[in-house]
Amino acid sequence: MNIIPLTETYYQQALLLANKVHGDNYLDLPSLIDMQKKASKNAINANFIALEGDTVVGLRLSYAANQWPLDEWCTPSLWPCAQTDMAYFKCIAIDPNQQGKGIGPKLLTASINALKQQGAKAGIGHLWQQSPGNGAVKYFTKAGGKLIKEHKNRWYEYSIKENYQCTICGVPCHCSAAEMVIEF
Ligand SMILES: CC(C)(COP(=O)(O)OP(=O)(O)OC[C@H]1O[C@@H](n2cnc3c(N)ncnc32)[C@H](O)[C@@H]1OP(=O)(O)O)[C@@H](O)C(=O)NCCC(=O)NCCS
Repeated sequence: MNIIPLTETYYQQALLLANKVHGDNYLDLPSLIDMQKKASKNAINANFIALEGDTVVGLRLSYAANQWPLDEWCTPSLWPCAQTDMAYFKCIAIDPNQQGKGIGPKLLTASINALKQQGAKAGIGHLWQQSPGNGAVKYFTKAGGKLIKEHKNRWYEYSIKENYQCTICGVPCHCSAAEMVIEF
């Protein structure tokens, strides 16, 4: 298995994987292209994929510090560093057949190394609290993630407005998010 930066060659496979793991309409091509821009700073790309042969089995999307917009689910008053130094862990998806084998942590490490090289001091994410086996909060906590705040119905509006079909709830989605931070 190889961990490499995400390139255009793998966009279609990355999209299929993200929507298979998180639900239909979770991600589309224009959004992914925008996310690739947000991930790139000083010629360093913080988005990574895990490849088994030429098949994408894992995807980690992360934004460079100061290149992403805050929203109502961000609590900068509780963050350990300035907003301008904070990277964002946007999305991770491991193929269901490959979950629980340590691929997520490898992708996270690759992203953290890139984000650090870009100059970030920490990274924040919204961890899916209903993820299968509680994998999301577990893997992030093992990597040093600390809970900042819990947010109920984090993807509710997204499911209503963008027809996002949560794999757990369908529409509407009532899943909650744990706002968590890793200091670098
Ligand atoms: C969460 C995720 C990224 C973790 O990556 P991973 O490669 O599976 O991570 P690990 O192999 O280190 O597993 C972490 C823990 O979660 C458990 N786990 C992961 N996937 C699981 C599953 N589908 N069912 C039951 N347990 C699971 C593992 O057994 C392990 O538990 P342990 O710490 O008690 O040993 C990956 O499982 C995934 O893509 N899950 C679905 C999508 C998701 O939740 N994305 C994150 C949204 S914020």
